[in-house]
Amino acid sequence: MADNVGNQEAKDYGIGVPVEKKAFFLKGLDHADWGIKDRMGRIFDSKSSHTVMLAFDHGYIMGPTSGLERIDLSIVPLIEHADCIMCTRGVLRSCIPPQVNKPISLRYSAGTTVLSELNDECILNIEEAIRLNVSAMAIMVSVGGIYEGKTIENLVRTADMGAKYGIPTLGVTAVGKELARDSRYLSMASRVCAENGATFVKTYYCEEGFEKVTAACPVPIVIAGGKKLPELEALTVAWKAIQEGAAGVDMGRNVFQADAPIAMLKAVRGVVHDGLKPQEGLELYNTLKNE
Ligand code: R5P
Repeated sequence: MADNVGNQEAKDYGIGVPVEKKAFFLKGLDHADWGIKDRMGRIFDSKSSHTVMLAFDHGYIMGPTSGLERIDLSIVPLIEHADCIMCTRGVLRSCIPPQVNKPISLRYSAGTTVLSELNDECILNIEEAIRLNVSAMAIMVSVGGIYEGKTIENLVRTADMGAKYGIPTLGVTAVGKELARDSRYLSMASRVCAENGATFVKTYYCEEGFEKVTAACPVPIVIAGGKKLPELEALTVAWKAIQEGAAGVDMGRNVFQADAPIAMLKAVRGVVHDGLKPQEGLELYNTLKNE
């Protein structure tokens, strides 16, 4: 109990000073609950409003992907340079030291691998997300795929649980081989994720009309990096995506398969957070690589 005797009398009421009303710094989230905003504020940098997430969840469908054979050797040294890490619970528990103290986007759906029919997925339990203190639950959504209904149901269930416990849901648009990764499709897939409760959306960049994809999605979009590209091309994709309205990147192979992954991650940060042009990002990459 606070001592009641000899207390100073309360007097600083700020009478006449209006309480400042601040909009949340990420689009579409003004009306989200405090816990959602707190976690999104850990994933996204409030100065740039952007994020550089490091994705290394590929093994859950692909097995020991190149660059991810030994997470302890290849990924752990990168983590301090990322804003958020995206991985499965298995790798998190077995390979990631808790003291890295980074927000986690947990791969929250699981099911089939590249050896069979992708996207037939189930979701984890909310208790697992709480136990692991995650900042987001990432759910694969296959709009237009044969498991569209199942994966949208997974998203809805996750968003319901996320709303209950203040944990953001990341809708991850999976594009089947038979579908085109164009702005028409990506707009639809991203919008469907947002409409069904995703707090933010991960999708692909497309050369034509990506600004329409971000404009029509009422919540932040981060882009996946996709397969390994030459460094300048990958930095150009990141730069264009940000210029055209993306809130960040969630890159994997273009970072951990680079010749100098830490240098690449820092170069991506330069582009995403500091407005470096792709060529400037490449120069930073080469400088850091040769140090
Ligand atoms: C998404 O579903 C994957 O599991 C990866 O998280 C995603 O593709 C990002 O990695 P990358 O930049 O290598 O495409």
